[in-house]
Amino acid sequence: MDKILVRGGARLTGEVEIGGAKNAALPIMAATLLAPGVFELTNVPSLVDVNTMGHVLRVLGAQVTHHDHSLTIDTTNCSYHEAPYELVKTMRASVCVLGPVLARHGKARVSLPGGCAWGPRPVDFHIRAMKALGADVEIEHGYIVASADRLTGSVIHFDTSSVGATENAMMAATLAEGTTTIENAAREPEITALADFLNAMGARVAGAGTATITIEGVDDLHAVEFRVVPDRIEAGTFMVASAITGGDVLLKGVVREHCSAVISKLQESGAEIVDEPGGLRVRGPVWGQSVNVTTAPYPGFATDMQAQMMALMAVADGTSVITETIYVDRFSHVPELRRLGADISVDHNVAVVTGVKKLSGAKVMATDLRASAALILAGLVAEGETEVSRVYHIDRGYEAIEEKLAGLGADVERVRE
Ligand code: EPU
Repeated sequence: MDKILVRGGARLTGEVEIGGAKNAALPIMAATLLAPGVFELTNVPSLVDVNTMGHVLRVLGAQVTHHDHSLTIDTTNCSYHEAPYELVKTMRASVCVLGPVLARHGKARVSLPGGCAWGPRPVDFHIRAMKALGADVEIEHGYIVASADRLTGSVIHFDTSSVGATENAMMAATLAEGTTTIENAAREPEITALADFLNAMGARVAGAGTATITIEGVDDLHAVEFRVVPDRIEAGTFMVASAITGGDVLLKGVVREHCSAVISKLQESGAEIVDEPGGLRVRGPVWGQSVNVTTAPYPGFATDMQAQMMALMAVADGTSVITETIYVDRFSHVPELRRLGADISVDHNVAVVTGVKKLSGAKVMATDLRASAALILAGLVAEGETEVSRVYHIDRGYEAIEEKLAGLGADVERVRE
């Protein structure tokens, strides 16, 4: 298994290109299953999760070819309707194929994803949404087994905001008979990107980006070309990389408004963020101030940036309170940050981080994608060498992070084993 070695101390400077969003690319790939034809997706990041979704689509009968940052997906002969456990267990976003396969074929058999590193992460909202659209849904042998002659438009009300369930409901409803209203819909930019993609395919989706989405069902959809939006979490991670090293980095290809919550917290902690014609410049302070952070659905502070922000707070001036409201157990990075000398205590879903003047490099282990990013960020300012093992987690969601950081002057390398 590969490792990433970081020798701390370098101040990051220069320019970095932000890639396409993993969490937009995955549901958009699933949505290609709604119509037969040849799709061209551009600005698709080269990531393990994208490859996994490619496998899921192949198992369902699609032909998928990845070249550079483009994906060609031919769904003409998609006649299978089962997403197997072996794939879904490795990436829970595979459950996104439930809505499209059910809507197009009238039946779907999708494995339940099972637990994840930081808690149960149920899919009950997805199942309830399919039932609301008139599907018969049973759980059989660990699989969601759904069927419907044709889905019927309906009102779907989510108890809490769910990105994946909103996506599944929206995709399924595009081919339903009649109108569907999704209430308390997630408002993440990835939802808006998916709605734009569906509308380009001929769907009638309105209100994406607000809490109420309306979908008028249509009889069929068609293949299109589409460009994936930039990754706001990769952008946020590089903003923190600049801030934590007191750096001066220009991020190219960022949508500023998608990053507002992170920008606001970074500014509060002393970073300077400037819009420039070529992108967004982030200048880090010499020693940042501690700030309190509470994760929340978009436009709140993303749970996917919580670990990275904690790395920044670990070396900030003062004490910061970080409250995780989306996944209450998402603190697997805490014991590893402590190995680097961070002063963090956790009580239930609240972490109290008292900034220290310096961290010291150590061997640490990545336990999930964003936790890995946090460890690399901490390694950038730790004295000596930090060795991050199990970096396959990071390859799920960051394309060539070590190359991009090295391009900004970081002393970081991947050791292949
Ligand atoms: N929830 C339920 N039942 C459901 C679905 C969700 O109770 O059926 C709960 C979850 O347990 C959680 C909350 O609702 O407490 C929100 O979960 P959500 O459904 O929004 O998460 P997701 O769609 O499974 C996506 C991202 C995650 C990101 C979350 C929250 C993708 C592929 N994944 O997951 O991204 O953390 O939204 O913003 O879009 C990552 O990229 O590192 C990552 C984990």
